[in-house]
Amino acid sequence: MNDPNGMFRDANGTWHLYYQYNPSAIVAGNQHWGHATSTDLYYWVNQPIALFPPKKGWGIFSGSCVVDVNNTSGLFPNQTNGVIAIYTLNEVYENKTAGPQTQCLAYSRDGGYTFTTYEHNPVIDSTSTQFRDPKVTWYEDHWVLVVAWPYEFTIGIFTSPNLINWTHASNFSYAGMLGLQWECPNLMNMPYYDYEGHYKEHVWTMFVSINPGAPLGGSVMEYYPGTFNGTHFKSVDAAARWADFGKDNYAGHFFYGLPYEENPVFIAWASNWQYAQFTPTGREHWRSVMTLPRQTRLTKTERVGWKLINTPYFIQPILGETLASEKDHRNGTIMVDYSQVESNAIFFEANVTGIPKHNISDNATLNFTALSPVSGEYVRGGYFFGGDVPFYLDRGGAKAFDQVFFTDKFSINVLSQNGTWQLRGLIDRSIIEVFLNGGTDSGTALFFSEQPLTLLLITTANLPETVRVSIRVDAIDGG
Ligand code: FRU
Repeated sequence: MNDPNGMFRDANGTWHLYYQYNPSAIVAGNQHWGHATSTDLYYWVNQPIALFPPKKGWGIFSGSCVVDVNNTSGLFPNQTNGVIAIYTLNEVYENKTAGPQTQCLAYSRDGGYTFTTYEHNPVIDSTSTQFRDPKVTWYEDHWVLVVAWPYEFTIGIFTSPNLINWTHASNFSYAGMLGLQWECPNLMNMPYYDYEGHYKEHVWTMFVSINPGAPLGGSVMEYYPGTFNGTHFKSVDAAARWADFGKDNYAGHFFYGLPYEENPVFIAWASNWQYAQFTPTGREHWRSVMTLPRQTRLTKTERVGWKLINTPYFIQPILGETLASEKDHRNGTIMVDYSQVESNAIFFEANVTGIPKHNISDNATLNFTALSPVSGEYVRGGYFFGGDVPFYLDRGGAKAFDQVFFTDKFSINVLSQNGTWQLRGLIDRSIIEVFLNGGTDSGTALFFSEQPLTLLLITTANLPETVRVSIRVDAIDGG
């Protein structure tokens, strides 16, 4: 699988995730929309394939769903749970050269399980071979669709009263980082909280996924806080901002159907086109995973202005036994053997207070290492509290995948306005996701070890007397 598609939450509270899916091979191609549902965003039930390409060689590419509660489309007489999917049809000519990418519609009268192709497709025609990934949202009194012209670094904004007749309203282009292509736009009305956590207002934000050409190589997700008046989007500044400092957070997609008062939730594809087709899980006949579901909001920092906050969605449903809990840790090591945890997955958290603002040694650190005592393989990461507080994430100790673009070390300088530092992390067999300082920064990295990692070490060193660290490690339930 690759990109998440069409995500929405229905009126019963069921979360629907569709995704780019090739049912006939473990590489991309022959794209369908796979489908899974969940009541908590963690335990998923596979559903039958939702969308099939109309011809051999053609693909149902990325797109989005909305629930047409008021039957604006006219396709849902006497029902309020009609689902519209708008996706890109990737056409291929008889001679196998690329045909046009057009935006098409399918509708579901059974709440998103089975779809019928709309008979007058496409709803947005084109002759371009590079025009894709429509994402639909509602603005006051009309529908809004954003879609990418990848080679032109342009997001088209279309409007419609009925999801069928679309008018091109404006473009948003050439902002921030370009890379070589823009894909998978999302336009979201994001709640903005100040740094103390008080709600201020909503801020329209454009999300764009770049591939290839990301600064770390391959794929990355970028965002632009701005203003939107129903037809035109303007970013507040010209800055390029990343959603994640790792290399495996791409094509992020926001759920439709959450009320204004609820923080938006997104899921991204946890991979990177530089190596997605080669990862060694191919031996097990599957390939790729999604990131954790993430609850998002914006904040504004003194130092760099706008920042996206993202944290794991309410994680309680999957937390199992507490494996370690220490309130008053100083310098030293905590060791947790999680070889008995059936899921082989753990969640850990460390909160650091009392770090002085000045004169803190570059050797004052908090490190974690998840280790295989059998092979010595590891992933690790940690804070260096001196200077501009760099944090690093290192997957280089896992040895089952050697590919030049599978680079292994990532870092970020973490911001704090009150001298407290937080590290939360989830390690789940072949993926690590870290959330720093309440989600002000997140890092997502795949890793592939020959042996399972089963031992977690958390080590603090050279911390001044004033510092207190609380640490907690929980098993993740499930097989
Ligand atoms: C992004 C992407 C989309 C496209 C889909 C095809 O990863 O390239 O632009 O619709 O994947 O699978």
